[in-house]
Amino acid sequence: MSSHLTILGIETSCDETAAAVVRRSESGEGTILGEVVLSQLDEHSAYGGVVPEIAARAHVEALDSLISEALLRADLKLADVDAIAATSGPGLIGGLIVGLMTGKAIARATGKPLYAINHLEGHALTARLTDGLSFPYLMLLVSGGHTQLILVRGVDKYERWGTTIDDALGEAFDKTAKLLGLPYPGGPAVERAARNGNADRFPLPRPLVGEARLDFSFSGLKTAVRQAAQSIEPLTDQDVADICASFQKAVSRTLEDRIGRGLERFKKEFADVGSPALVVAGGVAANLVLRQTLEKLCARRGFRFVAPPHALCTDNAAMIAWAALERMATGLEADPLSVAPRSRWPLDADAAALLGSGKRGAKA
Ligand code: KG4
Ligand code: ZN
Repeated sequence: MSSHLTILGIETSCDETAAAVVRRSESGEGTILGEVVLSQLDEHSAYGGVVPEIAARAHVEALDSLISEALLRADLKLADVDAIAATSGPGLIGGLIVGLMTGKAIARATGKPLYAINHLEGHALTARLTDGLSFPYLMLLVSGGHTQLILVRGVDKYERWGTTIDDALGEAFDKTAKLLGLPYPGGPAVERAARNGNADRFPLPRPLVGEARLDFSFSGLKTAVRQAAQSIEPLTDQDVADICASFQKAVSRTLEDRIGRGLERFKKEFADVGSPALVVAGGVAANLVLRQTLEKLCARRGFRFVAPPHALCTDNAAMIAWAALERMATGLEADPLSVAPRSRWPLDADAAALLGSGKRGAKA
C-alpha cells in the first residue's frame, strides 16, 4: 500500500456543487490535487435565497462533469483514488441525496470504501489542511445556516460550546440587506454600504452580551434594524450606510463578548496548551470588520487567529475529502452503502437542541 492516501470528495449540501481530489501524506500533510466549485448564486439570487428544488436539480446537472474535472485537474483516474467521500448532512435533503447517491454509485462501481461526511466536520478540520493546526482548538463557524462555537478536541471529538438560538449570523446579514433594499447575498452588500456609514448613529441591541452562556441570538437585532429603518423612512443612501455600519458594530461587539468568554473557558480547560488558537470558517468570516475585531481579541488574549483562505472557508469539496482522510488516518471505519442522508446532523450529539437553532437546517 502506498504511503499516502488520496480521496475524491463530493459536496452538495446547499447551493454549491463541488468535487475535489485531496491527498494526505503519511506525516499528515494535505495537498489539494484538483478541485472545482460551481456556485448556484445566479440561479437563486432572483428569489432572495436558496430554493431547495432548484438547488437539487442544479446539483444533478453539474455533479458528474465536476467530478471528471476535479480528477482531470488532479491528473488522476478514479482507479487512483483510495476512497470516496460525500457530504451526507446537515443540509438540504434534495442536494444531499444527489451527492450521497453519486458517491455510493462510484463506490459500488469501483469497489472503493465510502465515507459519509458531516459537512460541519469538514469546516471543523479545514484548518489542519491549510495550517497544520494541532488539537485541541476552538472554531467559530459563521455562515448562512450556522453560528456555532465548537471545541475541536480531535477527529470525531467535537463539543458545541455555543450556537444561535434563532437566526444564523449570515442569515441576519441577508435579512438586514433585504429590508434595506440591498441585493442578495446580503453580507457583502451590507459590508460595502457600511464603509461610508456612521456606526454610532443607531444604538442597536447587543444580544446576550454579558451572559455566561456562550450562545448567540440575532433575530432581535434584525427587528431593531427594521424599526430603525421604519422610523426614518424614506431612506437615503446615507441612512442605509449608517444603519449597516451600526448593525456591523452591534454584531462586532456581540461576537467580541461571546467569543471572548469562549477563549477564557478554553484557557481554563486547556491551561497546558502552549499556543491556543481560534479558527474562523463560513462565509461571514470574509467580513473585514468582524475579522479585525476577532483578530484583535485573539491578540489581546494570547490566541493565534487562523482564517483559512476564503475559498476553503466557504462550502467546498476539499474539506469533505480532507475530513474523510483524517477519519481514515485515525482508523475510523468507512460507512456502509446503506447510509442515509440527514438534513439535521449535529456535530456534537450530546449538545442539547436549542429552540430555533439551525431551524433552516439548510446551509452550513
Ligand atoms: O458559508 P457560506 O458561503 O454559505 C453557506 O452558508 O452555505 O455563507 C454565506 C453567508 C451568507 O449569509 C452571506 O451573506 C454571508 O455568508 N457573507 C457575509 C459576507 N460575505 C458572505 N456576511 C458578512 N460579510 C461578508 N463580507
Ligand atoms: Zn458550510
